[in-house]
Amino acid sequence: MNVTVTFLPSGRSVSVRAGTTVLDAARRAGVSIRTRCDGKAACLMCKVVADSSSGLSPLSDNERYKLAGMDRSGTRLSCQARVVGHTVVEVPEDPLRAAVRRQLMRQAEEDELW
Ligand code: FES
Repeated sequence: MNVTVTFLPSGRSVSVRAGTTVLDAARRAGVSIRTRCDGKAACLMCKVVADSSSGLSPLSDNERYKLAGMDRSGTRLSCQARVVGHTVVEVPEDPLRAAVRRQLMRQAEEDELW
């Protein structure tokens, strides 16, 4: 059975087999999710956010342990969460890219003052 995963904020969607990890679905959709351990649940860089009623597999004990203390509900490790139904997943902005974007906005504001 195929299911559709939509990634925000890009809005890209992909149809994948049920049981595919969110990380693999993102790669097929051409959506970039940061990873250093390539899916071994070690780096914790692949976090995404999904509604609790989404079509993702329940948290495994390992994923729950790794995400302990995260303050944002709905946070999942894309390398561990599997797609079991149609779902929408939010991919947070890369922190480095966000820092560069903020700095460029600050610079633009300062340029306007002069
Ligand atoms: S890819 Fe490293 S924890 Fe998911």
